[in-house]
Amino acid sequence: MEAPPLTESPTEAGRAAADDPARGHETVVVIDFGAQYSMLIARRVRELSVYCEVIPFDAPASRVDGLDVRGFILSGGPASVYAEGAPQTPLWVYESGKPVLGICYGMQLLAHQLGGRVSPGTEREFGPASIRQSAPSPLLAGLPEDMDVWMSHGDRVEVMPPGFAPVAESANSPVAVMADIARGYYGLQFHPEVVHTPRGADMLRNFVRDVCGCEGTWTPGNFIDEAVAAVRAQVGTGRVICGLSGGVDSAVAAALVHRAIGDQLTCIFVDNGLLRAGEAEQVVATFERHMAINLIHVEAEEQFLAVLAEVTNPETKRKRIGETFIRIFEREARKIEGANFLCQGTLYPDVIESGSHGAGSAVIKTHHNVGGLPADMKLGLVEPLRWLFKDEVRRIGEALGLQEEMVWRHPFPGPGLAIRVMGEVTREKLEMLRGADLIVMDEIQKAGLYRSIWQSFAVLTDTKTVGVMGDYRTYGYAVAIRAVVADDAMTADWAKLPHDLLGRMSNRIVNEVHGINRVVYDITSKPPGTIEWE
Ligand code: XMP
Repeated sequence: MEAPPLTESPTEAGRAAADDPARGHETVVVIDFGAQYSMLIARRVRELSVYCEVIPFDAPASRVDGLDVRGFILSGGPASVYAEGAPQTPLWVYESGKPVLGICYGMQLLAHQLGGRVSPGTEREFGPASIRQSAPSPLLAGLPEDMDVWMSHGDRVEVMPPGFAPVAESANSPVAVMADIARGYYGLQFHPEVVHTPRGADMLRNFVRDVCGCEGTWTPGNFIDEAVAAVRAQVGTGRVICGLSGGVDSAVAAALVHRAIGDQLTCIFVDNGLLRAGEAEQVVATFERHMAINLIHVEAEEQFLAVLAEVTNPETKRKRIGETFIRIFEREARKIEGANFLCQGTLYPDVIESGSHGAGSAVIKTHHNVGGLPADMKLGLVEPLRWLFKDEVRRIGEALGLQEEMVWRHPFPGPGLAIRVMGEVTREKLEMLRGADLIVMDEIQKAGLYRSIWQSFAVLTDTKTVGVMGDYRTYGYAVAIRAVVADDAMTADWAKLPHDLLGRMSNRIVNEVHGINRVVYDITSKPPGTIEWE
C-alpha cells in the first residue's frame, strides 16, 4: 500500500485535457483561502446545475484555461487580511472582468484589495444573526427584507472600496452585504452555503444565474453523454479492468465505463467475506445478471479469515486485508489479456485534496490498493468521476439505472466488518455482527432516516455481559449501535435517534441475534472519536 503509484493519472496532466467533460460548460470558480466550507460552496453551485471548481488562491491564471469561466467566488478563510503573508486574491481574477462574490474573508479581501478598509470588529460575530436589506440589489432580489444568516468573522469592512454601497446590515455591522452592481462585485459577511443561512441557496442562485448569467447546463444527462465520449476517446480499442468493492463509487464508475465501451471492460469483485449481509449477492446480481458486465467474482473469504486469525490490532488488520486484496486482484488482473487501463472511482474531493497540497495528482484510494500493482503492469487510469461530488455520483448512478439500494448505500470502509468486530475476527462473530447490522439498517430505513444519516451500523464489542432471558441466565456479547450525521467524514456528530427507534433496534437485536444480549448506543462525536471503532 505504501508503494508509489505506478499508474498514470489523467489528473496529473492538470486541466483542459481534450477529454475533460467540464470543457465547454459555463463554470464558476471558487478561490480557496483555506476555508472549512470551500467544497460546500462548490456543491451548492453544482446543485444549481452550474459546473464549479475549487482552486487554491495561489494558482496561476492558466489553471482555468479551457474553462468557460463566468464568475468567481472568494471563499472564507482563517486569516486576517492584514496578517503577514495573508493570502490574497490573484490579480488575474479582477483583471478577468467577471463577477466576484466574496464570502467572509473573501469579502474583506475585496475591501482590502480594491481600496477600502477592514478593521477588527468591536463585536465578534459567530453563529446565528439577522440581516435587513437596506437597498435593492440583484444578489438579494426576490428575498425577504429580514433574513437569518450564519456569521463567522472577527474583522469587518469599515470603509467600502470605491464603487461599492451597502445593501444589507446586521445589528453589529452596517455593511453585512456590500455591492458594486456595475462590476458584479458582491461581499457577504456571512456564509450563504450553510443550512443555517436558510435563504443562502437563493443568494447563490441569484449570483450564479443572474449576476454571472449562467443557464445551468451541468446536468446528469449531459455529464453522462460527455463522460461516455471521453472514455471512448481515452480507451480506444483498449481493455479496462475495474475493481468493484460493493460501494457506490466503484459501482457508478463501472456502470459508466460499461456504457462507454461495453465488453472492453472487465470487473473484478473480490469477496473478502467481510461484507454486510446480502452485499456480495447484490453485486453479482447487479453487474453480472442485470447489466451483463464481464465479472470475475472471487470468493476469498477463507483466505482473508486465515490471514486475520488471532490478529487483534486494528492497523494490522487493515494491512493484512490490503495485502491480501492486492495479491488476489493482481493475480486476477494478469489473467485479463491486453488490459491496459484501470478504472477507479476517484471523486473530486480526492483530486482537490491532493491538488491543493501541491501533490498535483489524484490520490490512489487505499481501499482499492492499486498503488501496489507491479511495475510490469503499467496501466493508464480511467477516472470518469473525478469531477464529481458524492451526491452528484449518486444522481449519475440513478440516471444510469443502478438500484436505489446500491446508489444510496452508506459509506463502508475497505477493511469491512473486520474493523467493526473488536478483537479477533472469526466467522461466528461476523455472522452475529451481520445479523445485528441488518436490523440497524432495516429499522433506520423503516424510520425514513437512511438518507439523512451519514453512516449507521452495528459494532460487535469484545465485552461479554450477563443477562436474563425467560428463566435462563445468559452470557453474551454487547453490541454498540453507531449512527452519525455529517457533511463529509472529517467531522461527524452522533445522530439524535428517537428513543423508540433505539428501543426497537435493541429489542430485535437481543431477540433475533443469537449470542448478543446487550445493546448500547455510541454518543461520541468526531472529533474526539472516529466514526469507526477500530
Ligand atoms: P473514521 O473512522 O476515521 O472514518 O472516522 C472516516 C470514514 O472513513 C471510513 N474508513 C475507511 N475507509 N478504509 C476505507 O476505505 C479504511 O481503512 C477506513 N477506515 C475508516 C469510515 O467508514 C468513514 O466513512
